[in-house]
Amino acid sequence: MAGLFITLEGIDGAGKSTHAGFIAQRMADAGHAVVQTREPGGTPLGERLREVVLGHPMDILAETLLIFAARAQHLEEVVRPALARGAVVLCDRFTDATFAYQCGGRGVAESSVEALASITHGDLSPDLTLLFDTDAGTARGRVLARNATDRFEREDLGFFERVRNRYLEQARREPGRFCVLDAGQSIADVQAAIARAIGRRIG
Ligand SMILES: Nc1ncnc2c1ncn2[C@@H]1O[C@H](COP(=O)(O)OP(=O)(O)OP(=O)(O)O)[C@@H](O)[C@H]1O
Ligand SMILES: [Mg+2]
Repeated sequence: MAGLFITLEGIDGAGKSTHAGFIAQRMADAGHAVVQTREPGGTPLGERLREVVLGHPMDILAETLLIFAARAQHLEEVVRPALARGAVVLCDRFTDATFAYQCGGRGVAESSVEALASITHGDLSPDLTLLFDTDAGTARGRVLARNATDRFEREDLGFFERVRNRYLEQARREPGRFCVLDAGQSIADVQAAIARAIGRRIG
């Protein structure tokens, strides 16, 4: 039985981590085995690469390649085996984040990320992507209230507006895969919208 690959996307502070546990619980209650994971990271190597990517200033192509290195390991070690077992894989960020942050935010060529995505997982794309969408100012306020910031979270609001717009562009290109949620609402209202979206898309 093939599993289900669900990804959570959105700018820093949109609420991905806040809602991941809620979604995992709903899927578990529905009787699914759930693997909750994140990118960059999700494996011992991937978590080490995450520390480097989030903490160390670097060339944007180097950044993109490290993210795909972590992704290749994650797919091989965690995502593909879990899907093969029939599990629901709930992943906090995936390749849409690379298009949004590295292409939209930093200006990496789309064709470069398309090529890397094709090499790394040409045969696999998420079944459902929940895009937590809110404006950069709201998200920034939440991140600052949360505590220490990383290298991405210290970018200016213009960067996050570009990232947000690139995410929305991807959602327009693939309306069948994406579900865009208004993440500016209260946590309870976002969760109600998640429940409706999951019910509608995957029953
Ligand atoms: N709808 C909401 N209303 C108010 N506060 C929220 C809402 N959603 C999340 N928060 C709060 O905002 C902060 C950031 O949320 P969270 O860590 O889930 O964002 P994230 O999308 O995972 O960000 P990152 O990409 O940086 O990991 C948290 O302190 C969380 O409690
Ligand atoms: Mg998070």
